[in-house]
Order: sequence, then C-alpha cells, then structure tokens
Amino acid sequence: MMTASSPLTIAHWQDEYLIGDARIDQEHQILFNMVNDLHAAIQTAASPVRLQAMIQTMADHTAEHFQHEEALMLMHNYPGYGRHKQVHDNLLAKVSRLLAQFDQQEVVLSDRLTEFLTEWLAHHIRGEDQNMIEFLRDRND
Ligand SMILES: [Fe+2]
Repeated sequence: MMTASSPLTIAHWQDEYLIGDARIDQEHQILFNMVNDLHAAIQTAASPVRLQAMIQTMADHTAEHFQHEEALMLMHNYPGYGRHKQVHDNLLAKVSRLLAQFDQQEVVLSDRLTEFLTEWLAHHIRGEDQNMIEFLRDRND
C-alpha cells in the first residue's frame, strides 16, 4: 500500500529515480508532477473535459519523452532497444485505449489509474531506464 503525505499527492519523487541523464531525469520528474496533478484533479472531482485534457497532455509528454529515450538508444545501438520500445508502446496503447473509453463514458477515473501510473513509472525507471543508462555509460567511458 502506498502512503501519501497528502491525499492529493500519489507519486513521490525519490533520488533513487535519478538515472544520471539531466534531460531524462527532468522529464521523469515532470511526469511525476503530471501524475500528481491528475490525481488531485480526480480526487477533487474535476470535470470530465478537464480530466480528458490532462490525460491527453500527459500522454503527449510521455510520447515525446519516450521518443527521446528511443533516439538515444538507437544512436548508441543499444541491444535492448526492441524490448524497451515495446514496453513504451504498450503503455501508450493502454493510455490511448483509456482515453477512448473515457470519451465514450465507459470508464470512471479513480485513484487506481494514478496508482497504476505511479507504479509503472517507478518500476520502469528503476528497471529498463536504469539498464539503458548503465549500458550507455559503460560504452562512453
Ligand atoms: Fe523508458
């Protein structure tokens, strides 16, 4: 179970999420902030239009961030590129399915969504992203 300092905050940034690439670290922190903003909006029953716009903005930023990582991997011939990109594509597909369902009023947003996103981010950063950066660092040294 997740413990939150405020009921409106769910994604708690920790230094262990820093992977050592300034741009990627900054983008990860922005994604954490966006998850918290979305969480606060859900908890305070923001309008569906506003929630939809927030998720769309978050999806756009996420897609842009994934492209940055993927370009970095391709540039350095990272052998785990295919698998890492698949993980990115799966998340983007999931979010666009969610947006479509929300648009059709087939789904009600709850903190299950922001909890899922928080766990996904933390797990992905400490796993695939960390592995990617370690490979690039070893290569450059
Ligand atoms: Fe990644």
